[in-house]
Amino acid sequence: MTTTLDPKERFQFGKNWSRFLEHLNDDRILEAEKSLKEKLSCENLNGKTFLDIGSGSGLFSLAAYRLGAKVFSFDYDQDSVNCTKYLQEKYAKNDPRWNVEQGSVLNKDFLKKFGKVDILYSWGVLHHTGHMYQAFENVADMVNDGGSLFVSIYNDQGIPSKIWTIIKKSYTKSKILRPFISFFCGLWLWKYRIGWGLVRHGNPLKFITEYGKNNRGMSASHDVVDWVGGYPFEVAKPEEVFDFFKTKGFDLQLLKTCAGGIGCNEYVFKMRQTKP
Ligand SMILES: C[S@@+](CC[C@H](N)C(=O)[O-])C[C@H]1O[C@@H](n2cnc3c(N)ncnc32)[C@H](O)[C@@H]1O
Repeated sequence: MTTTLDPKERFQFGKNWSRFLEHLNDDRILEAEKSLKEKLSCENLNGKTFLDIGSGSGLFSLAAYRLGAKVFSFDYDQDSVNCTKYLQEKYAKNDPRWNVEQGSVLNKDFLKKFGKVDILYSWGVLHHTGHMYQAFENVADMVNDGGSLFVSIYNDQGIPSKIWTIIKKSYTKSKILRPFISFFCGLWLWKYRIGWGLVRHGNPLKFITEYGKNNRGMSASHDVVDWVGGYPFEVAKPEEVFDFFKTKGFDLQLLKTCAGGIGCNEYVFKMRQTKP
């Protein structure tokens, strides 16, 4: 299966990632490394194969590379691929330990070349393909026995998720509405942080400067655009994701939910060993 949605209806993730790269610094790279080490419960990834599906900016491919993995990155969006290639050339020029390509997780023929990997990382991606369960099926086949599958999937909030789908669709369709949608959704999403900053520090925007800390090295303004624009958009309850991957031979190692709220639930699964 390939991605069938009209390109004009898709959010241009890569354009947002290329703006994010202008703000990339050592602190953000270290935060990304920290997030991989914490969630995968390891100090390094020496000798591991790491497949980054939907690599976006390329920051997590870079983090895995710096932690010692052999990295394969791909993304559907050519601008995201260019971002990842930019980081590959900057930090790992001519090193065969990091390869970057364009491709879709929905294309089974394309996926064949990667075989099975030790770590499959696909953070915030499979719900943006337009065929989330097909994407689940495809990645479930790609992890070695004892290997890890690290995914994050938007939480199903019921009616609010349906409202967000309409907002995201409107954002991708109408260029004129984009600044208004981002502004008002940003205010709404960050209302507590803005209020807390004002009361505690006299600065409603204080959280923006600290946003990347303990938050995968991300940036507030780029995250809000990624959130309001990110379409196609699907959601799943934690138990649905858990049940799906359990039937495919995975055990859940780590779950970080967004406590029933807005955002992504993070899952680290381990593929059961078939041989002792
Ligand atoms: C929210 S970004 C996440 C980027 C990155 N994984 C991270 O954690 O920062 C989603 C990415 O998934 C990519 N994507 C969407 N559909 C895809 C598909 N069918 N195959 C591969 N990548 C896809 C988008 O182009 C985008 O770069």
